[in-house]
Amino acid sequence: MRLWFGAALLLVVLAWAVSGCPASDREALLAFKASLSEPYLGIFNSWTGTDCCSNWYGISCDPTDARVADINLRGESEDPIFEKAGRSGYMTGTINPSICRLDRLTNLILADWKGISGEIPACITSLSSLRVVDLVGNKISGRIPPAIGDLRRVTVLNLADNQISGEIPASIVQMSSLMHVNLRNNRISGVIPADFGKLTMLSRALLGGNQLNGTIPSSIATMYRLADLDLSMNHINGWVPEELGKMRVLSTLTLDSNWLSGKLPASLLSDAGMGILNLSRNWIEGEIPDVFGSNSYFMALDLSHNNLKGKIPGSLSSAKYIGHLDLSHNHLCGPIPIGEPFEHLEASSFANNDCLCGNPLKTC
Ligand SMILES: *[C@@H]1O[C@H](CO)[C@@H](O)[C@H](O)[C@H]1NC(C)=O
Ligand SMILES: *[C@@H]1O[C@H](CO)[C@@H](O)[C@H](O)[C@H]1NC(C)=O
Repeated sequence: MRLWFGAALLLVVLAWAVSGCPASDREALLAFKASLSEPYLGIFNSWTGTDCCSNWYGISCDPTDARVADINLRGESEDPIFEKAGRSGYMTGTINPSICRLDRLTNLILADWKGISGEIPACITSLSSLRVVDLVGNKISGRIPPAIGDLRRVTVLNLADNQISGEIPASIVQMSSLMHVNLRNNRISGVIPADFGKLTMLSRALLGGNQLNGTIPSSIATMYRLADLDLSMNHINGWVPEELGKMRVLSTLTLDSNWLSGKLPASLLSDAGMGILNLSRNWIEGEIPDVFGSNSYFMALDLSHNNLKGKIPGSLSSAKYIGHLDLSHNHLCGPIPIGEPFEHLEASSFANNDCLCGNPLKTC
């Protein structure tokens, strides 16, 4: 009896182990592999045998049902396979829509392969378990799928450093779990959706290096977890919303190289939490508000290449710390304040103004 039970148990275990991943998942992965070419490392050499859950490089499965849960393929990695080859990854080809049959996929990471091209298959918006979509550093073109908002569980969407064009889909504001979005360095045009502020979980919004136009939506000021906002190197116009300076955790604000105009909101400079503020290369005018205080702690404050006039505010010398200051290429005039924050600064911080004087420039 005991023997019989033992044998039956063994059979069950064997059957489970042999079955491994379902054939449909394995076939989807093999179709995915067939659309890609990785000539230097041989990462796909391990994709053989019937069980795609065991020892297929970059693949892992849900242990309870052996469904494929992760595709995790990074072209920049510490994995020994890269050390042995003495090079970073390079892959060409396209992302086969067959991955949309992996309906339990939670992580889709196909990052830094430099050469993967073609479009993001629109059907990935049906993969309702997805949490991380990371396709950074390839040559992906085409649009962001219009139904991207269906991905309600995605926390990280990283499509940076590709050749994506078209507009930011209006549906993006329905990605209610989104914490990090990085669309930097693509060819995305059009406006930032006016209701972008609906993404209340968002802590990093990196949209720099595109062709975005229109104004900065005021709804952004309601995003109470937003710590890092990068809209630099776009074609954004209008004023800098005063409310941005009142956001609780915003500490990095890079709006440089746009077409922003109007005055510099005092709130941005008096905000004790602001650590990096770059407004360089815009059309900001008027005086620099005299609102710095002993709480001001700027790793970098770059207001260069604008139309600022008047004096450098005296309160800046009471700041606790100013790591990097650039006020060059404006129309400032008068004596540079004296004080500790100014002692380590070089003449280049003040160059090309109308009539600034005093250390480190020539004496008044
Ligand atoms: C933004 O650019 C698009 C072309 O990419 C243009 O059609 C649209 O009128 C522009 N909108 C604004 C508000 O400047
Ligand atoms: C601010 O932006 C300008 C223009 O995009 C860039 O050249 C500069 O290095 C940035 N400043 C800092 C401190 O990063």
